[in-house]
Amino acid sequence: MYKIINTEEIGPKIKSYEIYAPNIAKNAKVGQFVILRINDTGERIPLTIAGTNLEKGLVKIIFQEVGKTTMQLASLSAGECIKDFMGPLGYPTEIKKYGTLVSVAGGVGVAGVVPVIKELKNVGNKIITIVGARCKDLIILKDELRQQSDSIFFATNDGTYGIKGYVTDILKEVINKEKIDIVYAIGPVAMMKSVSEITRSKNIKTIVSLNPIMVDGTGMCGACRVTINDETKFACVDGPEFDASLVNWEELISRLGLFKNLEEIAINKFKHNQGCNCCKK
Ligand SMILES: Cc1cc2nc3c(=O)[nH]c(=O)nc-3n(C[C@H](O)[C@H](O)[C@H](O)COP(=O)(O)OP(=O)(O)OC[C@H]3O[C@@H](n4cnc5c(N)ncnc54)[C@H](O)[C@@H]3O)c2cc1C
Ligand code: FES
Repeated sequence: MYKIINTEEIGPKIKSYEIYAPNIAKNAKVGQFVILRINDTGERIPLTIAGTNLEKGLVKIIFQEVGKTTMQLASLSAGECIKDFMGPLGYPTEIKKYGTLVSVAGGVGVAGVVPVIKELKNVGNKIITIVGARCKDLIILKDELRQQSDSIFFATNDGTYGIKGYVTDILKEVINKEKIDIVYAIGPVAMMKSVSEITRSKNIKTIVSLNPIMVDGTGMCGACRVTINDETKFACVDGPEFDASLVNWEELISRLGLFKNLEEIAINKFKHNQGCNCCKK
């Protein structure tokens, strides 16, 4: 069992937890993730390692409530335990000096970007960060992003923070103004695909952290299958980071929607068990 030590709400339906898992804390590198299971009957979900506290043996995860398991996780309090917490999984991010790097973070993808740009800045890269969200309230970790970035730009769909528009609008401007050596993007698949289309046309190397459905996290079940340069790869063991220009985005998007009906049923069942309005009547 893995104890939740601290919980913090850092945005609407976005939580940051610190879990006591000293072995994972000791071995984790940026870009890696964990797979957790809340209880014996729970499903396994992957979450990025958003930070570690070596002294206290803590691993930080930041997650958005989007479905049954993340809602159930959000209902837990400090002091409660989760059944399984497996990691660190996946290849770490390659940390080296590229020159000028643009990091693009969408929504809760910011949680993965912060530790990566911290390391990349430490080795001497110039970091330009572009952050996007639906609205101001959904932009998380602003201070941490500012601290690790030489310059930073924001875009919101409704214009409540930064420009009204998309991260890609800013990316096009940045690319036109200066020479960019590499782009690193984490966020919704549609965002990463659009970033990839822009940078491929300008021949700028781009790394994305893919988020296909994962189950075992060991390369055995095939759930996280993605096609990279016409070859089958498993994001849990071969990734999660890949060269964006080689990703088969259409296949990834269609595989992510495979279980939509079942996910909706699971959410409704969970809300019903928690005591939804129809039960309270
Ligand atoms: C390597 C990796 C790192 C991730 N890191 C984060 C993170 O740091 N913070 C965060 O909020 N989210 C992260 N995700 C996404 C997170 O795993 C899903 O939001 C979560 O699994 C949703 O589960 P659910 O039951 O709450 O929602 P559901 O209703 O089951 O699903 C909602 C959507 O989440 C996706 N999803 C569902 N089950 C899985 C699964 N087992 N594996 C992957 N995706 C799934 C699907 O696109 C689905 O349509 C990451 C995904 C991957 C692959
Ligand atoms: S999650 Fe099963 S093969 Fe990757």
